[in-house]
Amino acid sequence: MTSRFTKPDSGWFVNDRFGMFIHWGLYAMPARHEWIRSREELSIADYQKHFEHFNPDLFNPIEWARMAKLAGMKYFVITTKHHDGFCLWPTEHTDYCVTNTPYQRDLIRQTVDAFRAEGIKVGFYYSLIDWHHPEFTIDRIHPMRNNPDERARNPFRDMRKYADYMRKQVFELCTQYGKIDLFWFDFSYPGEDGKGHQDWESEDLYAIVQELQPHALVDNRLDLPDVGDFVTPEQFQPAGGLRDAQGKPVVWEACQTFSGSWGYYRDEHDWKSVDLLVRMLVDGVSKGGNLLLNVGPTARGLFDQRATDRLKGMGDWMALHNRSIYGCGAAPDGFTQPTDCRYTYDAHTNRLYLHIFAWPFRDIYCPGLGDRVAYAQFLHDGSEVHFGAVGEASWAGMAGYTDQTPLAFQVPILKPDVVVPVIEIFLK
Ligand code: GLC
Repeated sequence: MTSRFTKPDSGWFVNDRFGMFIHWGLYAMPARHEWIRSREELSIADYQKHFEHFNPDLFNPIEWARMAKLAGMKYFVITTKHHDGFCLWPTEHTDYCVTNTPYQRDLIRQTVDAFRAEGIKVGFYYSLIDWHHPEFTIDRIHPMRNNPDERARNPFRDMRKYADYMRKQVFELCTQYGKIDLFWFDFSYPGEDGKGHQDWESEDLYAIVQELQPHALVDNRLDLPDVGDFVTPEQFQPAGGLRDAQGKPVVWEACQTFSGSWGYYRDEHDWKSVDLLVRMLVDGVSKGGNLLLNVGPTARGLFDQRATDRLKGMGDWMALHNRSIYGCGAAPDGFTQPTDCRYTYDAHTNRLYLHIFAWPFRDIYCPGLGDRVAYAQFLHDGSEVHFGAVGEASWAGMAGYTDQTPLAFQVPILKPDVVVPVIEIFLK
C-alpha cells in the first residue's frame, strides 16, 4: 500500500524536539472545551451565535511567534479546522469560515507569516471530523448522536462528498501558504458507529500532501497502518521510547496541554507548573520523543496570563539549557539513569546531560559511567562539577562498603536556582 508513497526526512523534527500547538476557533468564546458541541450536544444553530460574534480584535501573531521563540519552540502546529468544522482560512468550499465572521481576515495567513518570520517551522492541524458539514454522517461522537431525526437522515448524507470536500480543502492548504513542514490530521475512531480510513478516503487525502508537499511530515491518525511519519501519544508520557512491531525505535511526539483542554477554557484550574512542564519536555527527549505543547488563545486573540507565564518560565530554562534538548535523544544503552534523574544525549558532540529532577544530598551515583567521564559542568553557569569513584575518600569506602557504584558527581547542598539543574558530561 505504501509503495507509491515516499518517506520524508524527519531529521529536523527529531533535532528540534519542542513545538507549539495552537487550538483556536469559535470554541474560545464559550470557553469551556473545544468539544463543547459534542459534550453538550449542541446543534449548529445553538452554536451559531459564536460564529456571528467571532472578532478577535487583539490578535497579534507577531506576539505569539515571539513568545513561541522565547520559549524555545522550533515549530508550530495550528488548527486550520477543528471538529466543529469552522475554518480559520478563507476556503472556497464552505461559508463556514473566518472571512464570514465579523473579523473577516485570514487567520492562517497572518499566523504562518509571523511564525515563519521568526524562523519557526509551519504545521497544519486539520480535523478529519466535521460536525458542521451536511454530508458528514452522525456517529457515536457526533453532537447529534442522540437525535433520532438527525440519525434518520444518515442515509441521505454522503461521506464520499465529504471526503472530496476534505481533499479540496487540503489542496488549498497545500497550495496557498508556501512550504508546509508538517500535517497533523485528527483523528480516526474506526469500528462500530465510528469512522476510519474508508470514510476519509485517507490514501487519496495523503496522496495530495505527498504530491504537493512531499517533504512534509504527516502524523499517524489517518488510520492507515503504513502511513505516519511520527506517532502521537496524547496527554500522557510514554513509559519508555516507543517502538514499532519489529522493535525499532519510532519517531514520536507527545502532545500535551497546560490545563487539560485544548481550546481556551476559562474556568479550568488544573494548570501544570513550569517545573512539571520542563520535566515533561526532558522526560520525552530522554526517551527519544518530542513535546508539542498546546496554547488555547482567548476569543480576543491573546495568550492568557497563565499561558504566557508558563511559556516565559520554560523559555528561561531553555535559554540556559537548550543544549540538552536540541539535537539530543535517549542515552545509548548501558547508561542507567541515576535515581530521580533523566539522561539526554547528543551523539554529535558525545555529551551526556544529567537532568536532576529531585535535588539529592551531595552524591549522585551513576551506574555505568565508570571511567568514561572526561569533564563535567553545570549547564546553567558552566561551573565545574567534581566527580570521583565512590569510596576513595568517603566513610563508605573506608568502612569497606564495596557495593557502591563506581562514579558519583558531587553537587552542592543548595540546588542551583533553575527549575531543573543539568550536569553536562563530556564523555571520553
Ligand atoms: C484529540 C481531540 C482534540 C485535540 C487533539 C489534539 O484527538 O479530539 O480536541 O485537538 O486530540 O491532539
